[in-house]
Amino acid sequence: MNTTGGTSDRPVAGQKSGPALATPKGGQPAAPSAPDEPRGPSLPWIRPVRPSEIAQVAALDEKIFGNLAYPFFVLRQLYDVHQDDLLVLEDEGLLRGYSIGAKGATAGLGWLLGLGVEPASRGLGHGERLMRASFDRFADHGVDRVRLTVDGENAAAVGLYQKLGFTLLQEVEDYLGPGESRLLLEASVPAVTGRPPATRVRNRGQPDL
Ligand SMILES: CC(C)(COP(=O)(O)OP(=O)(O)OC[C@H]1O[C@@H](n2cnc3c(N)ncnc32)[C@H](O)[C@@H]1OP(=O)(O)O)[C@@H](O)C(=O)NCCC(=O)NCCS
Repeated sequence: MNTTGGTSDRPVAGQKSGPALATPKGGQPAAPSAPDEPRGPSLPWIRPVRPSEIAQVAALDEKIFGNLAYPFFVLRQLYDVHQDDLLVLEDEGLLRGYSIGAKGATAGLGWLLGLGVEPASRGLGHGERLMRASFDRFADHGVDRVRLTVDGENAAAVGLYQKLGFTLLQEVEDYLGPGESRLLLEASVPAVTGRPPATRVRNRGQPDL
């Protein structure tokens, strides 16, 4: 694992029904449309991954994260569990990035499990678009808070998360194994999406974390 930041870190322990479309940089996701709706060939768009594309996502992940990449079989099973929450960004007919959000076991808490943009497509707003699309899905799932972990030296990712309003909860020593400490960050879903908080009926005896 590369701890110098850059490309080898991933949000560990950490997306609205239907596809989320590409958004203006820094803006809200556009209204959903059908996955196969015709669109301009040069417009980047974000949509749920197709099962037939999981191998492509695995290859992209390996390009981005190297030895920390999710193997194909893990991505396959993440897809089985999280389905449309595994988002990809397609541009010029190629997959350029992906994000994986997951509703956690604690009510209202979600985790961002993966985010990556291919090196040649960085700095174009794709990472932020993917994050916002995942947050929109979190809102659909009734998730109010999202956590992720990041290498504190990964300036690009930390910068992105700061821009979205993530705050530091704690630094977790050896989070990914010996010598691999990570920052545990959290953000409010309504603050990112601009959508109202979810209303939830709390189960009796459920801890309020
Ligand atoms: C992190 C990553 C997803 C960002 O994707 P990106 O498409 O390049 O980022 P964006 O163009 O959407 O940038 C959005 C914001 O992120 C921040 N940011 C992006 N690159 C940055 C950099 N190199 N340094 C500091 N901040 C940066 C900025 O706040 C930027 O907003 P601005 O353009 O208004 O200043 C991308 O660098 C990546 O895939 N890195 C490798 C994988 C990785 O680290 N994933 C996250 C693991 S926790």
